[in-house]
Amino acid sequence: MGKFSEGLLDEEKIIKELNILTGHSILDAGCGDGYMAKIFSKLVGKQGKVYALDPDKNSIVTLNGELDGNSNITAFVGDITQNTNLEDSSLDLIYLSTVFHIFSKEQVQLFDKEAKRILKRNGKLAIVNIGKEETPFGPPLEMRSSPEELINKLTFTPKGLISVAEYFYMQLFINE
Ligand SMILES: C[S@@+](CC[C@H](N)C(=O)[O-])C[C@H]1O[C@@H](n2cnc3c(N)ncnc32)[C@H](O)[C@@H]1O
Repeated sequence: MGKFSEGLLDEEKIIKELNILTGHSILDAGCGDGYMAKIFSKLVGKQGKVYALDPDKNSIVTLNGELDGNSNITAFVGDITQNTNLEDSSLDLIYLSTVFHIFSKEQVQLFDKEAKRILKRNGKLAIVNIGKEETPFGPPLEMRSSPEELINKLTFTPKGLISVAEYFYMQLFINE
């Protein structure tokens, strides 16, 4: 797997399942080049807001360079396993694509806590992961989580499992 999952995933299927509405506030956590953040930006419209966060400064500098002053995207350097400075209960959706496998056990717990803090009640968490089976690319199997393992590692309520490409799944959760 390269640095970004763009081109590998069925983004139309992802978008359909996310049910994004005009005016929604969305965080693309570990946004990389911001490809999905830009798609979310169009869907939420002017009344909506997209936050694109990544610890990689170069990705954020490049993304910010592509945005004009009127953009509804705020791109910033950050870590979703730490305090992001986003407001409590402010987001309709957190999207985390091909990032979860990077987290240590401790980071998983910190991610869970921060995601809980910033998601609205009944807000959605969408995690896209490569499946835990032999694939021609991707991180070592021991770094990956199956959907069942993912559900067990988090305190969110699972709300659907979708195949979003040959080797990838998206697990949806609700912040009940
Ligand atoms: C494989 S890339 C995926 C990028 C993008 N989400 C996509 O699907 O194309 C993993 C990204 O996670 C970011 N990342 C690593 N640790 C992170 C953390 N603690 N919080 C947020 N993002 C993180 C990396 O900097 C990198 O941009």
